[in-house]
Amino acid sequence: MGNVNLLPGLFQDSQEKGKEYLLYLDVDRLVAPCYEAVGREAKKPRYGGWESTGIAGHSIGHWLSAAAVMVSVSNSPLLKQKLDYAIDELAYIQSLDDQGYVSGFPRQCFDNVFSGEFEVGHFNLGGSWVPWYSIHKIYAGLIDAYNYTGNEKALEVVIKLADWAKQGLDKITDEQFQRMLTCEHGGMNEAFADLYLITENKDYLKLAERFYHELVLEPLAKGEDDLEGKHANTQIPKVIGCAKLYDITGKEKYKRIATFFWDQVTNFRSYVIGGNSIREHFGPENAEELGILTTETCNTYNMLKLTEHLFDWSHDSNYIDFYERALYNHILASQDPDSGMKTYFVSTQPGHFKVYCSADNSFWCCTGTGMENPARYTRSIYYRNGDDLFVNLFIASRIDLEDRDITIEQKTTFPETNRISLVFKDTDNSSLSLKIRVPYWAAGEVLVTVNGESVNGKVENGYLTVTKDWVVGDHVEVELPINLHIYQAKDDRLKKSIMYGPVVLAGALGRENYPETDILDDHQELNNHPLIDVPVLVTDKEDPNEWISKDPLQLVFKTEAVGKPGNVSITLVPFYQLHHQRYSLYWKMMNTTEFATYKDTEKEEADRRRRITVDIVNPNEQQPEVDHNMQAENSFSGYLNVVHSGWRDSRGDGYFSYDMAVESDKQMYIVVTYYGSDANLHVDGKMYERYFEILVDGQVIGKEKLHFNKPGELFDEYYEIPRLLTEGKDKVTVKFKSEEGNAAGAVYEVKIVN
Ligand code: AHR
Ligand code: ZN
Repeated sequence: MGNVNLLPGLFQDSQEKGKEYLLYLDVDRLVAPCYEAVGREAKKPRYGGWESTGIAGHSIGHWLSAAAVMVSVSNSPLLKQKLDYAIDELAYIQSLDDQGYVSGFPRQCFDNVFSGEFEVGHFNLGGSWVPWYSIHKIYAGLIDAYNYTGNEKALEVVIKLADWAKQGLDKITDEQFQRMLTCEHGGMNEAFADLYLITENKDYLKLAERFYHELVLEPLAKGEDDLEGKHANTQIPKVIGCAKLYDITGKEKYKRIATFFWDQVTNFRSYVIGGNSIREHFGPENAEELGILTTETCNTYNMLKLTEHLFDWSHDSNYIDFYERALYNHILASQDPDSGMKTYFVSTQPGHFKVYCSADNSFWCCTGTGMENPARYTRSIYYRNGDDLFVNLFIASRIDLEDRDITIEQKTTFPETNRISLVFKDTDNSSLSLKIRVPYWAAGEVLVTVNGESVNGKVENGYLTVTKDWVVGDHVEVELPINLHIYQAKDDRLKKSIMYGPVVLAGALGRENYPETDILDDHQELNNHPLIDVPVLVTDKEDPNEWISKDPLQLVFKTEAVGKPGNVSITLVPFYQLHHQRYSLYWKMMNTTEFATYKDTEKEEADRRRRITVDIVNPNEQQPEVDHNMQAENSFSGYLNVVHSGWRDSRGDGYFSYDMAVESDKQMYIVVTYYGSDANLHVDGKMYERYFEILVDGQVIGKEKLHFNKPGELFDEYYEIPRLLTEGKDKVTVKFKSEEGNAAGAVYEVKIVN
C-alpha cells in the first residue's frame, strides 16, 4: 500500500472525502468512553449513537486503523498529529488502570470471564455487549498505527493490553474458553497473530490459536457448510485469522477453512454487488432474498481482507474478479460523495434507497469499517512477486518499486473508458514481467500494445504477461472490451441484474415520496418508509446491448420502453454513483411469452406487508433484538434450518420482551409466528409444557399452548391489543412469559400490525 498513490479519478475523490471525515472527528470525544471506563471524567462528551452504548470505544479503534493507513497512503501531517495524540491519550488512560486495560467500557465483564463463572450469549458476554469485538478494534488500531506509521508508543500500549488479556485468559480452561467464544469476538485471533509477527513472542501465537472457535471452524475444515442462520460478520474475521495463522504456521487446516469458506460465501451466499447477509445473517445456500437489511458493509470490508490472502496463495485472477466487483459495487458505493457519510446495510429491496450515518450520532459498526475503506483503496491494485508485477485493478495510480528504482503510472478513467495506459517513469533498465489481469467480464480479446507494437501474450491463470527490460518512457496500452451483460440471480430464473463490465447498474428511480433526509442517527427509522412500484422488464431481445444504449460521454444508460406497466424506459447508472434517490439493483426480467402468464406474487406479498406492518422483530438476530430493547431471563434462542428462521423462547420462571412501535390512533394487533411441530420441550432431563402468556405493558392480552398445532409449518396467531393499552403511546412492551414447569414460545417472528 505504502508504495502506491492514487492519481486523480473516482477513487482519489472518494479517498479525499473519507479523509475529511477522519479529520473532522474529535479525538477527545472518541476517547471519552475510555476515560469513563476507568472511572475518570472525560475531556469532552462522548459521541452519540453506538458510542453511547455498551459497545463504545469501537470507533476510536476503527479511527486509529483508518488514520494510520490514510497517513501512510496520502500526505496528511494534521492527521498524523491527531493520530499521535490519540495514542498518547490511550497510553495515559491505560496508565490509570492497575492491570493495563484500556477500552471504551468497564473492565468488569472481562473480570467476570476470567473468573471462569460467566454468562454468555451470541452477543453478550460477562454482562456486556460483544466486549471482545469492541476491544478488538482497539488492538487492531494500535497494531496498524505501529505497522503503518511506526508509532512505538502504540506498540507499547497494545503489548500491555495483550499481556493483560493473556494473564486473564490463562486462568480459564479450554472448555471455558470455547464457551466464551460463543459471543462475537471480532478478529482477536488475527490481532494476536499480528502481535506475534511483530514481537515474535510465542505466547501471542498460542493465544491466537486459542481463539480458534471450534464449533464454527471445525465443520469448515471438513468442507461442511453449516453457515445458514449464523451471524455473518461474526464468522468472517475468525476465518481471516485462520488465513493469517496458515501463513505463520503452515497448518493446512487453516488454509482449507479459508478457501472453503470463501468459495461458499462468494459463490452461494452473496448478492450481485458482492455483499452478503440478510438481517446480518447468512440465509440458505443459493438464496438471494431481497430486503432492506441486506449486505452489511463490514462483511464486505472483511471479505476483501480474506480475498487478499487467497490471492496471495494462488495468484489466481478469480479472486480479483470478486475483489473488483465488491470494491466498486459495495465499498465505493457505500460512501456518500457529498457528505462523506457511510451506509450500514445496503438495501437490495427494489425501490428502496441508501441510508447513511450522521457525523456525530450513529457510530454503527459500518461507520467504523466505512472510515477505514477509503484509505485502503490502494491495497490490491498491484501485487508484487519478485520480478512479477501484477496489475490487478484498473485504477489511476502510481507505484514505486523502491528496491528496483522503478516507477510506473497507470493512467485511466476506467470504467468511464476502457483504456489503460501504463507508463514507465523511472526504471533500472532490467527485466520485469507485467502481468495484466484479463477480467472475467472482458467481452473479447484484451488488446495490449507496448510502445505501439501489439503483443500476443498467452493468458495464464487470468493474466497476460509482458516481459521486457523496461526503459524510461516505455508505455503499455491496454484496451479492455467492455459491454453490457446480465447477472442471473441464484434463486429465481426471472430475477436479474444489469452490469457493464464489473459495474452493477442501478435503475435511477427518482425521489417519489422520498424522506426528508437519508442521513440518519438511527438507520432503522426508515425501514418502514413506503416503497414504490418498480417496473418489470419485458423484452424478447436476449442481448442487453440491443435494448440498452449508453450515453457516449458518460456512464448513463437508457433502456428501450421495456418497463411494465406503462412501457417506460429506465435510466441506469453505476450503483456507486447513485445517491439520494430510489433505486433497483434487481429486476424481474422476462420475455413477452413469460410476461403473459406472469403474476407478481412478490409484489402482492410486499403490498400486504407494507400496508399493515407497523413494527417487526426477528428473534435471534442481534440488531433487531438490540434495537427493540430486548429484555430476557431464562431465555434461549437459535436457528431452525428446516424453516430458515431464528427463534426465541423462555423456560421455567422466565420471559423475553421487546419494545415495539404502535400507532395510537388505530386498532393494533400482535401477530406472532410459531412453528407447528413445536411440542412439549425436553431438555436436561426436564420437561416443559409450552404454555405461556402474552403481555402488553404488563397486562395479559393472550395465552397460548403449543403442541403440534400445525406440524411441519410456520403459522401466525393474531392477538388484539386493547385500545386502552396503545392510546397516547408510540411504543409498548410485548412480553412472553412462562412459569415454573412451562416454556414460552418458541417465537419465530413478532409483528405489530394495524
Ligand atoms: O455486533 C457488532 C456488529 O454489529 C456486528 O459485527 C455487525 O453485524 C452488527 O451490526
Ligand atoms: Zn457493520
